[in-house]
Amino acid sequence: MQKLLSVVLVLLVSVVPSVGESSNEIESQIESILEQLTLAEKIAMTHAQSKFSSPGVPRLGIPEIWMSDGPHGVRAEIAWDSWSHAGWTSDSITAFPALTGLAATFNPELANQYGVALGEEARYRKKDILLGPGVNIYRTPLNGRNFEYMGEDPYLASTMVVPYIKGVQQNGVSACLKHYALNNQEQWRGHINVEVSDRALHEIYLPAYKAAVTEAKVWTVMGAYNKFRGQHTTHHKHLINDILKGEWGFDGVLISDWGSAHDTKEAAMYGLDIEMGTGTDGLTTSNENAYDYYYLAKPFQEMIQKGELDESLLDDKVRRILRLMFRTNMSPDRPLGRMNNPEHLEVARKVAGEGIVLLKNDRSFFPIDSKKKMTIAVIGENATRAMTPGGGSSELKARTEISPLQGLKERYKEAKFIYSPGYASGPPAYGRIVPSTLDADSLRTAAVKAAAKADLVLFFGGLNKNHGQDCEGGDRAGMALDFGQGELLQKLIKTNKNIGVILVSGNAVEMPWLPKVKGLIQSWYLGSEAGHAIADVISGDVNPSGKLPFSFPVKLSDNAAHSFGELSYPGDGQTQYYKEDILVGYRWHDTKKIEPLFAFGYGLSYTSFKLSSIKTDKKSYTTDESINISCKVSNTGKVDGSEVVQVYVGKVNSTVDRAEKELQAFQKIHLGMGTKKTLDLSLDIADLAFYDESVSGWNVEKGDYLIYVGTASNKISKKVKIRIN
Ligand code: BGC
Repeated sequence: MQKLLSVVLVLLVSVVPSVGESSNEIESQIESILEQLTLAEKIAMTHAQSKFSSPGVPRLGIPEIWMSDGPHGVRAEIAWDSWSHAGWTSDSITAFPALTGLAATFNPELANQYGVALGEEARYRKKDILLGPGVNIYRTPLNGRNFEYMGEDPYLASTMVVPYIKGVQQNGVSACLKHYALNNQEQWRGHINVEVSDRALHEIYLPAYKAAVTEAKVWTVMGAYNKFRGQHTTHHKHLINDILKGEWGFDGVLISDWGSAHDTKEAAMYGLDIEMGTGTDGLTTSNENAYDYYYLAKPFQEMIQKGELDESLLDDKVRRILRLMFRTNMSPDRPLGRMNNPEHLEVARKVAGEGIVLLKNDRSFFPIDSKKKMTIAVIGENATRAMTPGGGSSELKARTEISPLQGLKERYKEAKFIYSPGYASGPPAYGRIVPSTLDADSLRTAAVKAAAKADLVLFFGGLNKNHGQDCEGGDRAGMALDFGQGELLQKLIKTNKNIGVILVSGNAVEMPWLPKVKGLIQSWYLGSEAGHAIADVISGDVNPSGKLPFSFPVKLSDNAAHSFGELSYPGDGQTQYYKEDILVGYRWHDTKKIEPLFAFGYGLSYTSFKLSSIKTDKKSYTTDESINISCKVSNTGKVDGSEVVQVYVGKVNSTVDRAEKELQAFQKIHLGMGTKKTLDLSLDIADLAFYDESVSGWNVEKGDYLIYVGTASNKISKKVKIRIN
C-alpha cells in the first residue's frame, strides 16, 4: 500500500508543474489561447486599466493582473485612477525592514525568509505582482531611493536578491525586479541620459539583475525612467532585447515604471510588454479614456492595422503575459497566503536585529544594562517618528510600528525616561519640503536640559522619509544632517559626555561630531518591529552582526561619482557621465587610497572574533576550477555572536584598470563564546573575469591574484597569493 502510494505521488509530482515552472503543456496552452484572442483583446492586455491593474479577457476567463508596491511590504490600496489612498480598512500589513537593512544582514537565508513572508502577505492581499525588489547600485549618498536598494556591491546585491525573489515567487506571486537599469539618482530621473562604459555596465550595474533573471528566474522586470545612451530604458533595444531577453533568456514580462513609456514604436519593438501609469489623473498627459491612449493601446493597434508594425510583436508580449498568468493568477496550485501573523513579525524583527550595524563602541558604551536604575534622556525626532509611511511608492500602512522610544520603554523597566525631540523636520509631504512651524531654539534648549538631568543620553537622528531626505522623486541636497541636528548634537555632547547616537537612515551622512560620542549605531528603516529590534541590540539581547552594505565617505567629494564634478553627478540636466567607471564605493576608496569614515562590510560586535589558518586548497589553478578557501573563526570574547567572513580578490599587475579588490564570497557564522569553527568558502575562477570591451565578453586574465580574507573591506586578516594558468 505504502509503495503504491509513493508511486502515485511520484507520478503526480512529475505531471503537475510546481508553482512557476513553465512546461511544454503550458506553452501549447498559451498558443491555443493566443489563437482565440482578437486584436483588441490582445492590445488590452498590454496596458493598464487602472493605476495598479491590467485587464484580462472576461470572455475567456482570463483574469486581470493586480500589482502592488513595494519592496519591503505590500502597499495600501490605491484608488482606481489616482494616487489617492483608496481608504480600505483591511489593507494594513507587516512592514519589513527596507532593503539596505536586509542587505546589511549579509544573510541570504534571512533574505529568503523575508521573501517568503512578504510574498505570503502579497498573496493574501490578492496581488499577482509585487513591485520589488530594487537592485540599483548605490552610487551616491544623495540618491533619495538608496534605502530601497541593496547597497554598492554587485556580488552582495546578487547574493541577497536571489533568495528574496525565490521566497516571494514560491507563493505564486511575481517579484518585479526594478528599476532596469541605471536609475541611480532621483534628480531628473524622467529624462537624464546616462553614459557609462560597457565595462561598468556589465561589472557593476547589471550583475544583480542578471542573477535575478538567470538564477532566481524572476517573472517580471520593471524598466526605469532614465535614458541610457540616448534611449529610454523602458524600451531599450540593447538593454532589453539584446541583454535581458536575448543573452539572459528572460521569458517573463517587462513592465514600464509608472509613466516611463514614451513612444509606441519603440515600446512595441524594444521589449516593453505592459505599459503602466502613463497618465491617468492629470499628473502627466491625461485624456478622456486615457488608458485607451496609452502608447501600447490605440496607437499600437492602429500601427498594426496599417501594417507599420508586425502583429508578431504583440503576440510575443501576450505570450509572455499569459506565461506570467500561468505562474501566478492562473496557477491552480498556488498557496493562499497569510498576513499580519506573528511569524511575519518575527521575520521582520530578526532581519532588523541582524541588519543593525554597530559602528562605534568606546569602552563598551553598548550594550546598556537593563537592570540598572537610571535616567535615560532619549533625544531626537527619530525616536518617535513613524518611518513606514512616506518615502514615495514604498510607503506602507503598517498594522503596527514600534517606535524606538516605545521599544526601549518596554525593555528597560527599571529606567526612567525623559523624551525630548530636540529638532523638528516638518510634516510628511511628498515632492516638496514643508518646514516645521515649531521653534528650533526652544526645542534645542529643552533637549539640552533633558540631557543635563540624565545619566545617559541616546540621540535618535538621521534622515526620514520626507522629500529631500530618503524619499523617491528627489535627491538629498548634501550629506550633512538637516534640521540643526549637527548643532544640537554639539550642544548635547557638551552637556553630557555619556552619549550614544542611533542614526536612522538608508544613506550615509556626514559626522563631524563622531569623535565626541561614545557609541554609534546605524539603524535603517526597520519596519513594524523597529523599536523592538533597536532595544534588542541596545540591551544586548541581540549581539549586533550587521555590516555596512555601502561605504560612508568622510565628505561628499570623497565619493567617486562626486569627485568628478557635476557632469558625473547629477549631470547637466540632459546627460551625465559615470566617470568613476568601475570604481564605485569601496572599489574607489581602496584603489585611490581615500579612507572612508566607515568602510563597506564594516560592523562591530559585543564579542571579538579572530580569523586564523587562512589558506587556499592550491597555489595554482586553471580557469575552469574553483578556489576553495578555508579559515578558522574563533569567538574570543565573552558573549555568543555572529561574524561575516568576507573574501575579496584583486589582480596583481592587471593589463586593465581594476579595483584593488572586489567581494567574491562571504559567509555569516554564529559562534558561542569561546568556540571556533573552520569555514570553507569557494569561488569560481570564471567569476574573476573582467568585462572585455574588445570582445564584448568576459575575460579571465592569467597570472597572479591576491585573495583577501577579512571581516570588512578595510579589515583584512590575511592575503594569499594564487596563480591562474
Ligand atoms: C516608482 C516605482 C513604483 C511605481 C508604482 C514609480 O514612481 O518608481 O518604483 O513601483 O511608481 O507605484
